[in-house]
Amino acid sequence: MGAGIAQVAARAGYEVVMRDVAQEFLSRGMTAIDKSLQRDVDKDRLSTDEKGAILARIRTTTDVGAVSDAFIVVEAATEDLKIKSEVFRTLDEVTQPDAILASNTSSISITKLGAVTRRPDKVIGMHFMNPVPVMKLVEVIRGAATSDETYGRTRTLAEKLGKMPLECQDSPGFISNRVLMPMINEAICALYEGVATRESIDGIMRLGMNHPMGPLALADFIGLDVCLAIMNVLHDGFGDSKYRPCPLLKRYVDAGWLGKKTGRGFYEY
Ligand code: CAA
Repeated sequence: MGAGIAQVAARAGYEVVMRDVAQEFLSRGMTAIDKSLQRDVDKDRLSTDEKGAILARIRTTTDVGAVSDAFIVVEAATEDLKIKSEVFRTLDEVTQPDAILASNTSSISITKLGAVTRRPDKVIGMHFMNPVPVMKLVEVIRGAATSDETYGRTRTLAEKLGKMPLECQDSPGFISNRVLMPMINEAICALYEGVATRESIDGIMRLGMNHPMGPLALADFIGLDVCLAIMNVLHDGFGDSKYRPCPLLKRYVDAGWLGKKTGRGFYEY
């Protein structure tokens, strides 16, 4: 998702530093950006020169110090509180004191991430949806200490990126995943119980509810490890058994069948 965020920011005219822990992830990200922009070139919505200019605005690096001049950093690391907390601690050290530290987390507490920094008023959730260049929404999440100024600046930035910012408070799963993930989990439970085939479950939701993808295909698209991590956050956060992750979801994650990114999930790719 980091690559998608870098792409929309560069397309909106911003100079972007895309930082990751290893060069191979950066190369993969740049390939995805190139492919995504090429779709628009092929459809005559973007010239080859414009595409080149967008790519040139993205600098890749493994050095976290390279973001020291940024007015905002959008973190999109693995969905794990420990990892994200470490990233926020580091960002707090290396960035300018007035920089906003935003997280693209799908469910981790913004309040907790803010609390590991010396600027919790400047920590906010900026939750993009996949595929980032296509999806209109940015869910903007306010932590307990997020200031109105930080919220206003983040909102304005989301609009400049061509997105629709919609606000919510910090609560497990926010709105997007509190509503989406139990539906996906329920579809997995239905498959587990043998109520219907994967094709039938997805077809019913696509043709009957006009969802662009069925819930099982969508789970594969999001990543089954991410789906499980979000269900665990809902389960722990609310302490309500209705959020219990389906055993089949756990089994697939244990097997390393994480969806599209590993070539196998509920479908084969
Ligand atoms: N980059 C740029 N454009 C892309 C793209 C990409 N990676 N992927 C698709 N597109 C564009 C295509 O060019 C096409 O554009 P036009 O119609 O303007 O020509 C359009 O999107 C539709 O693409 P396709 O015809 O190839 O395929 P599709 O009609 O099956 O749509 C989809 C693909 C947009 C992914 C659609 O299936 C969809 O909306 N799926 C649901 C996605 C969703 O729910 N995302 C949220 C997931 S949850 C999340 O991200 C957050 C979380 O916390 C878990």
